[in-house]
Amino acid sequence: MQRASAILSALAAAAAVLACPGEEHDHVHAYQKREYPQVPLTPPSRPLVWSDVNVIHTTDSHGWLLGHQHLSFPEPNYSGDFGDFASFVTHMKAIAEEKDVDLLLIDTGDLHDGTGLSDGFPPGQVDGHETNKFIMDLPYDVLAIGNHELYDYANTYDMYTNFAPYWNGRYLSSNVNITVYTGNGNETMSVPVGERYVKFKTGKGRSVTSLGILYDFTGNDVNTTVQTVAKMVKEDWFTEAIKEEPDFFLLLGHMPVRYDNWPTVYDAIRKVHKYTPILIFGGHTHIRDCTQFDGRSIALESGRYMETVGWLSANLSGSDTENITFTRRYLDANRVTYEYHTNTSNSTYDTTAGRNITTGLQQLWDTYDLSYLYGTAPQDYTLSRNPYPSNGSVLSLLVTEALPYALMINNTRVNIPNIILVNSGELRYDVFAGDSPLPFADAFLYIPNITLAVAEQVLPGLNDDGDDDRRRSLERAAEREAERYARGDVSVRFNAWLEEMSTRRVRSRADDDNLTLGYVTSDQCPGVGDDTPHIAVPYYSSPDYISSDAPSVSNDTLIDLVFINFIEADVLEILNDVQSDTTYTESDVLSYSPLLASAVLGLYAQEYWN
Ligand SMILES: *[C@@H]1O[C@H](CO)[C@@H](O)[C@H](O)[C@H]1NC(C)=O
Ligand SMILES: *[C@@H]1O[C@H](CO)[C@@H](O)[C@H](O)[C@H]1NC(C)=O
Ligand SMILES: *[C@@H]1O[C@H](CO)[C@@H](O)[C@H](O)[C@H]1NC(C)=O
Ligand SMILES: *[C@@H]1O[C@H](CO)[C@@H](O)[C@H](O)[C@H]1NC(C)=O
Ligand SMILES: *[C@@H]1O[C@H](CO)[C@@H](O)[C@H](O)[C@H]1NC(C)=O
Ligand SMILES: *[C@@H]1O[C@H](CO)[C@@H](O)[C@H](O)[C@H]1NC(C)=O
Ligand SMILES: *[C@@H]1O[C@H](CO)[C@@H](O)[C@H](O)[C@H]1NC(C)=O
Ligand SMILES: *[C@@H]1O[C@H](CO)[C@@H](O)[C@H](O)[C@H]1NC(C)=O
Ligand SMILES: *[C@@H]1O[C@H](CO)[C@@H](O)[C@H](O)[C@H]1NC(C)=O
Ligand SMILES: *[C@@H]1O[C@H](CO)[C@@H](O)[C@H](O)[C@H]1NC(C)=O
Ligand SMILES: *[C@@H]1O[C@H](CO)[C@@H](O)[C@H](O)[C@H]1NC(C)=O
Ligand SMILES: *[C@@H]1O[C@H](CO)[C@@H](O)[C@H](O)[C@H]1NC(C)=O
Ligand SMILES: [Zn+2]
Ligand SMILES: [Zn+2]
Repeated sequence: MQRASAILSALAAAAAVLACPGEEHDHVHAYQKREYPQVPLTPPSRPLVWSDVNVIHTTDSHGWLLGHQHLSFPEPNYSGDFGDFASFVTHMKAIAEEKDVDLLLIDTGDLHDGTGLSDGFPPGQVDGHETNKFIMDLPYDVLAIGNHELYDYANTYDMYTNFAPYWNGRYLSSNVNITVYTGNGNETMSVPVGERYVKFKTGKGRSVTSLGILYDFTGNDVNTTVQTVAKMVKEDWFTEAIKEEPDFFLLLGHMPVRYDNWPTVYDAIRKVHKYTPILIFGGHTHIRDCTQFDGRSIALESGRYMETVGWLSANLSGSDTENITFTRRYLDANRVTYEYHTNTSNSTYDTTAGRNITTGLQQLWDTYDLSYLYGTAPQDYTLSRNPYPSNGSVLSLLVTEALPYALMINNTRVNIPNIILVNSGELRYDVFAGDSPLPFADAFLYIPNITLAVAEQVLPGLNDDGDDDRRRSLERAAEREAERYARGDVSVRFNAWLEEMSTRRVRSRADDDNLTLGYVTSDQCPGVGDDTPHIAVPYYSSPDYISSDAPSVSNDTLIDLVFINFIEADVLEILNDVQSDTTYTESDVLSYSPLLASAVLGLYAQEYWN
């Protein structure tokens, strides 16, 4: 499945480290993992509000278990590692015990594809298999599957055989199946990866019915099945699962809390239980968000990459019909935050189990040899904090420098002029000064013999600024976006969030002076959201598709139209739009280079940053 692996690697681009398993290099072990915050961190603004049911939420951790270790801001805000987080959970559980209240720990999927720790595995192993063991070290009450668990059958199978069984029915995949061999014969069967739902009692004896739902994802591998949410709520098992009234519904899902299908699930439950509290925890678009469908429900999404830890409290001991008092908070994942909320200090914070996890992660780091440096970036290159095109844009770096250099290495088509096209969602993280470049592992394809005049019209067509029929082209651009979203590309939603934050001015300049860079969330729930106040990071939008500069040749020169495999269908569509001499199909598309996109920045860094 070329398509599937394309998205997989598109999102794997987030990695700040690039593993090179099995390769021989002169390794430079210059990069040390920094365990403790290297810069002073601002503590949170106020204590958490505890109530009788409390939840800690992680989502879309994508392998970022060693914390964000870059010194460029706002990265130190997220420097807590998974061992630190484990200690946090232990202290919080003790506080909950003392307060005699419930505290649940939950996760809503996408456990890998993002860092070398999860993805830098040697050949023969499975993505995320080792990092999953650290997830298993934490006392999660319920977990839900993410789309990244489905791009590659081997991953899903690993979740099915090794991860799900560990949780004794608490790993949920309500609408996700895997096809496996069963019994003695060679018969196959489609079965849920985890459980469809679970009913359990909390420590304080509250009854809970929980589901784990994936959004309508279409980029899944062969022999995995994703049922649409609309179909799922019509299943007999679903009706049966929600029939009995629990003290509250705990709905987990790898699905954003707004602009997706939560209302479908919420409505189905509300039809049967008018007032039962519904606590929804979403994910997938990597943003901080919260909304309420009514006064007795709440839906929280808690960011990404272990930058954010979500907190929710609900007072369920009030009246059975009046609005419930909820609070939610988005914690910056660092030791200062954790210590503040657990009344601990640097010296009393660590637990033995937490330290052990940190040590285990560091060992995995060494085993995968993640300290290897391809080169040292002379400056920060950012995805959206600098305009595109500009010297500080990683998108510019990619299309004007790195791709034209790397794709020409050992390429027989080196003398034929080209235009190289990629979708900007392909890149998922900044490149920081002093750090190694980021990986992303797609293949490059091309169509030969396209005149420059035609090739030059493809990019504007993709970005929808070429067409006379503006409405039609807007519609088609929206269709293309919806299709990229269904296959797992969340860049449009995530960028819209960044943009909204940076354009909003909620504080006066004077107040801003003391604040540090970070997320400034405005969601639809009452009260304070961000645990630590920040000013928004500057945001510059970039087009959905970007390309290298056109070669200086005449309009009728035949050139190679080169593009990343993720956008093959889009390129063919536009190419057939802008000319009518030839109807291009997949059979006209050839492999441009054996080089995978993951190698591009590494090769560039080796050549130019050493
Ligand atoms: C929950 O609400 C009830 C009724 O309003 C109140 O008596 C109680 O103190 C609240 N509990 C917490 C933990 O806030
Ligand atoms: C967040 O990053 C800023 C830099 O923008 C830094 O000065 C600040 O101390 C950090 N705050 C926290 C809570 O980590
Ligand atoms: C199962 O398949 C294998 C190889 O495909 C074959 O050798 C074996 O005889 C089959 N077993 C049964 C019970 O059909
Ligand atoms: C999922 O697996 C169950 C159990 O085998 C089966 O009944 C159901 O039809 C499957 N659902 C889908 C959508 O494949
Ligand atoms: C999917 O599973 C079927 C058995 O149900 C098997 O024959 C087929 O080879 C599998 N396809 C892939 C691509 O693994
Ligand atoms: C209850 O909550 C809903 C949804 O948040 C809100 O529209 C409504 O005004 C609230 N009612 C009261 C009495 O506070
Ligand atoms: C916390 O303790 C560690 C280990 O003793 C030390 O290296 C670090 O500098 C301390 N950090 C702070 C902020 O005191
Ligand atoms: C420490 O971690 C290892 C795995 O990394 C695990 O096998 C062991 O049980 C852990 N020990 C403690 C005391 O948590
Ligand atoms: C290019 O070819 C040379 C000689 O065969 C080889 O050593 C080198 O690894 C190749 N480079 C890439 C990027 O494939
Ligand atoms: C491209 O054009 C050249 C000459 O114009 C021709 O030799 C070649 O076969 C063409 N390639 C394809 C794939 O059409
Ligand atoms: C080349 O093609 C472009 C786009 O079709 C057109 O705007 C331009 O005038 C052409 N230039 C020449 C010299 O024909
Ligand atoms: C900024 O911080 C300084 C030192 O902590 C403090 O004295 C001052 O009042 C703060 N200013 C604002 C506007 O919060
Ligand atoms: Zn994700
Ligand atoms: Zn996702």
